[in-house]
Amino acid sequence: MRVAIVNQPGIKNLSIVDRPDPEAGPGEVLVRMRAATLNYRDLLTVEGGYGSKQRTTDFIPLSDGAGEVISIGKGVKRFKTGDRVVGNFFQEWLAGEPDHENMKSGLGGVIDGVASEYRTFPEYGLCHTPDHLTDVEAASLPCAGLTAWSAVIDQAKTNPGDIVLTQGTGGVSVFAAQFAILAGAVVIGTSSSNEKLQRLKALGVDHTINYTETPEWARNARKISDGRGVDVVVEVGGAGTLDQSIKALRPGGVACLIGVLSGSNHDFRLPLVVTRKIRMEGVTCGNREQFESMLSAIKQHNLRPALDEKTFSLEEIVSAFEYMRAGKHFGKVAIEM
Ligand SMILES: NC(=O)c1ccc[n+]([C@@H]2O[C@H](COP(=O)([O-])OP(=O)(O)OC[C@H]3O[C@@H](n4cnc5c(N)ncnc54)[C@H](OP(=O)(O)O)[C@@H]3O)[C@@H](O)[C@H]2O)c1
Repeated sequence: MRVAIVNQPGIKNLSIVDRPDPEAGPGEVLVRMRAATLNYRDLLTVEGGYGSKQRTTDFIPLSDGAGEVISIGKGVKRFKTGDRVVGNFFQEWLAGEPDHENMKSGLGGVIDGVASEYRTFPEYGLCHTPDHLTDVEAASLPCAGLTAWSAVIDQAKTNPGDIVLTQGTGGVSVFAAQFAILAGAVVIGTSSSNEKLQRLKALGVDHTINYTETPEWARNARKISDGRGVDVVVEVGGAGTLDQSIKALRPGGVACLIGVLSGSNHDFRLPLVVTRKIRMEGVTCGNREQFESMLSAIKQHNLRPALDEKTFSLEEIVSAFEYMRAGKHFGKVAIEM
């Protein structure tokens, strides 16, 4: 089988090599991976910037993949040959709160990822792909989709009529906008590109703000909410956006802290957080139980993930990463295998 391997940090150092096909052991499922998608985290892992525990040699990247069951090992009950499946991001975090052990089980972090034509998974590490989704669409869900779901639905508990603000048009944010729409919220989407703002509108986003043309976008968000402030901000910017996010929120509103695209260390307005009783919620993807709830909602509402128009092959993985790093994409960048 063909596999993408990191042997030293750096996108350019990714190589495609041949490896023997794996076999399913007891309790395991062998999957022919059909698609994978990229997350910003994958960019960090390939470049060696994802913490001290990540591997930087002989390491298979990418957390998010989907495919078809080729064979099952002894004792497997949840799946049969021919089933279409998608991997759960944290292989060992099945339900409840996370702990230090199950947080080490993120695919494509400490353990090998899915950038290979075949991969075995423990049967508990997989879920069924909703019938209406293609494998590429399903492969967009484990990290970006579940993180957005955890933020908007499970942690912020978005209600119909709430105002949710999403930042930029990357994987997490576009899913967050889609789930907020599903929950009946009014959505404000931001982007640095007017063209991408049009695409957000086409998805059903109610209001848009270009954050480059309007760096003080909190003022616009407050105006849209008739001065009250928004209920939820899906924070992916980090240091460069947190100040505006706090200003945009209503008293008692929630900032879902997800990403640090514009930096991770910053002085922020603690007094405003205290006096406005703002809830700061760290979000770390989610567990399998949440993943299954999200898959049910996606099935029920026939929701289709937003994929960028450009798709790459496994051999083109370096170009796929470069495309993502350039920020040209809208939604998810996919690799078909
Ligand atoms: N906590 C978790 O479990 C978790 C899970 C997934 C991702 N994350 C984090 O969330 C962040 C987003 O991940 P992703 O995979 O969705 O990334 P992505 O697809 O690469 O998203 C990049 C997009 O974010 C937007 N952006 C960049 N800087 C921005 C800024 N200063 N203000 C507003 N938008 C900005 C840009 O959108 P426009 O081009 O439209 O301007 C850019 O195209 C990353 O920091 C990632 O590490 C965390």
